Amino acid sequence: MKILVTGGYGFIGSNFIRYMLNKHPDVEIVNLDALTYAGNIENLKDIENEARYRFVHGRVEDAERLEEALEGVEAVVHFAAESHVDRSILDAAPFIKTNVMGTQVLLNSALKHGIKKFVHISTDEVYGALGEEGLFKETDPFRPRSPYSASKAAADLLVQSYFTTYGLPVCIARPSNNYGPYQFPEKLIPLMITNLIEGKKVPVYGQGLNVRDWLFVEDNCRAIDLILERGKPGEAYNIGGKCEKHNIEVVREVLKIMGQSEEMVEFVPDRPGHDFRYALDNTKIESELGWNPATSFEEGIRRTVEWYMNNSHWWKPLKERLQKESKGFWSK
Ligand SMILES: NC(=O)c1ccc[n+]([C@@H]2O[C@H](COP(=O)([O-])OP(=O)(O)OC[C@H]3O[C@@H](n4cnc5c(N)ncnc54)[C@H](O)[C@@H]3O)[C@@H](O)[C@H]2O)c1
Repeated sequence: MKILVTGGYGFIGSNFIRYMLNKHPDVEIVNLDALTYAGNIENLKDIENEARYRFVHGRVEDAERLEEALEGVEAVVHFAAESHVDRSILDAAPFIKTNVMGTQVLLNSALKHGIKKFVHISTDEVYGALGEEGLFKETDPFRPRSPYSASKAAADLLVQSYFTTYGLPVCIARPSNNYGPYQFPEKLIPLMITNLIEGKKVPVYGQGLNVRDWLFVEDNCRAIDLILERGKPGEAYNIGGKCEKHNIEVVREVLKIMGQSEEMVEFVPDRPGHDFRYALDNTKIESELGWNPATSFEEGIRRTVEWYMNNSHWWKPLKERLQKESKGFWSK
């Protein structure tokens, strides 16, 4: 089967492509990526000469480029997005262009090409924020609160509408916070690890009391593969890590692994409208597709720390670029 993956040079997309090529000898991948600041060809250096892999440099909003990318393709997995909440607060325009308009152009092209399965990667953030209690179900209303999550909610609804209006066989994945190798060092966990390696303090929003549900990227890739293979058209699936933690707990875990003290933490003013808690009910994906997260946080975070310690050639140039931008991007 030939699959078009959009955003395959990003964090989750590159992990997904590697996962699929390793797991399925019959799978061919076309990766369409615009190579924005978040896209990095180094992410797939090890497989770029693989015969079953092809890269098309282009934007999802470009219907002509999509024509080329979709040749012979049976399925689409759509990761491409502007993905960083803090950037969306500074400027929402690129988020609307890529996440909303780009998704619509891609949906049209997929329809035209008779795509057999379209898996859209949405997010847990479309549901909005939770208090201390409760879990979001797939049927809960959308209450996005940042420009990022609003653009993702719009895309998610558009994807649903292409199923009900045109019968495009779509599935929607709504994963929680991913972590693991190849995550851009503006996000909480890689920022923290790389700062500590560089002997710098770790910025933490507010008092670090926001709660996120952490999902190791490999577990997410396995869930998306199952949704692609067996997800019911028209359905959405939550992908939760079953691993809720206050940000400060995550920070402490990393400090412990890296043998550093809490003096390395620097509390900084909170992000405007910072969602307090996200958490997902996984019942549907567990019962329909038999998926559960397999990697404990202890194992996943240890592997992640090790990866950043062994791959400073990968993240150092990215951090230098971020420092030149000198904006305070540091959490999801
Ligand atoms: N990272 C997470 O924790 C998380 C959690 C839930 C959902 N998601 C969703 O998963 C997807 C992937 O997230 P990520 O963290 O890997 O993102 P990322 O920012 O690391 O990567 C995004 C990729 O998309 C590409 N891209 C951006 N605009 C494009 C455009 N117009 N056309 C083509 N390519 C474009 C970038 O070059 C980059 O390679 C996103 O849709 C995001 O909303 C992420």
